[in-house]
Amino acid sequence: MDTIEVKELTKFFDKDVKAVDGISFSVQEGEILGFLGPNGAGKTTTLNMLSTLLRPNGGTATINGHDILTEPDAVRRSIGYVFQDPTLDIELTGRENLDFHGRLYGLDRNTRQQRIKEVLELVQLTDRADNFVKTYSGGMKRRLEIARGLLHYPKVLFLDEPTLGLDPQTRRSIWEHILRLNQEKKVTVILTTHYTEEADYLCKRILIIDFGKVVVLDTPNKLKERLQGDVVSLTFKDTAAIEKFRPLLEKKEWIHKINVVASGNNYAAMSRMMQTSPQMVNSMVDNEKTIQEETSPPKDTEQAVFEKNIQFSGEQCSKCLNLLLDNGGHRIPEIVKLAEEAKVILESVELRKPTLDDVFLSVTGRNIREEEGSFIDMVRRHRIMRQARGKPTRN
Ligand SMILES: Nc1ncnc2c1ncn2[C@@H]1O[C@H](COP(=O)(O)OP(=O)(O)OP(=O)(O)O)[C@@H](O)[C@H]1O
Ligand SMILES: [Mg+2]
Repeated sequence: MDTIEVKELTKFFDKDVKAVDGISFSVQEGEILGFLGPNGAGKTTTLNMLSTLLRPNGGTATINGHDILTEPDAVRRSIGYVFQDPTLDIELTGRENLDFHGRLYGLDRNTRQQRIKEVLELVQLTDRADNFVKTYSGGMKRRLEIARGLLHYPKVLFLDEPTLGLDPQTRRSIWEHILRLNQEKKVTVILTTHYTEEADYLCKRILIIDFGKVVVLDTPNKLKERLQGDVVSLTFKDTAAIEKFRPLLEKKEWIHKINVVASGNNYAAMSRMMQTSPQMVNSMVDNEKTIQEETSPPKDTEQAVFEKNIQFSGEQCSKCLNLLLDNGGHRIPEIVKLAEEAKVILESVELRKPTLDDVFLSVTGRNIREEEGSFIDMVRRHRIMRQARGKPTRN
């Protein structure tokens, strides 16, 4: 029997919208399975059902042989959960946060001490264990949450967006910690992410989820092999150039697929908004009410950090076309000539192998970076990023 077996799991919050729409999959012992999907795809809702926090409207699942519907206590003992939203008490020290969690699980004093020592070593926080969490960096907080999730020796760990809002270097270090606990402690992991590079690096298999449904489930390599051929990425001077050139490319039968690369629309809109009114953004999350008035621009470097996060997730290009074709290298001169004849300015031409971004686009018809969530979802995400970096938010 697999460690996790999920059958037709379904959740709807209102009659028309199924957050999770009858998904089935299984996870083998010791595997890291990635849930890759855009905002609102149903990732957190699935984890919440598997961890017995939400009751499904249909279907069921077993974890470690225990049914989530009929044996919730046994399921909870089998799992650790690192939530998408930070849940540490920043007025306590790292050790105190862990101790509190150990008490909740009924661990006696000696066991708590020994396990706290062990998990702190695993995430390399021993030196900072007795400092207040409010003095920790975003990456240290995330590592402490992972340590906390492991304290009761769960066989299964759910990591919901483990590196959201972290800088690339910290993100890398969290990846190494996840791999280490998976290898050393033999913990089976489901992790959710909308970072394709994260799923590619960490996961033995990737489940692409979109609109609450499983779109594909396979190893990263097999997913990429589905897209036979090369990708040629074209960057143009402006979007008018794309509009002019695309119909010409569409006539070429040797181009299998033409994709417009994401512009990070909502993040860009969000970023613009932060330039004018960060307070307004926060108040929208708090009250979910409409914008009333503009206030002063941000005075710190938040904008710069925010942009950096966008950059890392590759959401910079608003003037690109990706072409999927065979023998890309041989076709490039032909593409350049076509652009010259059409008097379209090409700023760059890049040849590469398909990535998981291309796979996502190909199987869903949408770009994972298009961020289809509501505006409020997007604002919430910004708040999580603020919290991950230790900045206060209004509650
Ligand atoms: N408690 C709730 N009440 C109503 N709708 C909800 C609730 N929780 C989630 N939803 C909706 O269910 C859908 C799936 O949400 P979910 O949080 O599972 O997405 P996700 O894949 O985790 O997205 P993200 O990447 O933004 O975290 C979304 O449309 C969301 O708005
Ligand atoms: Mg989520």
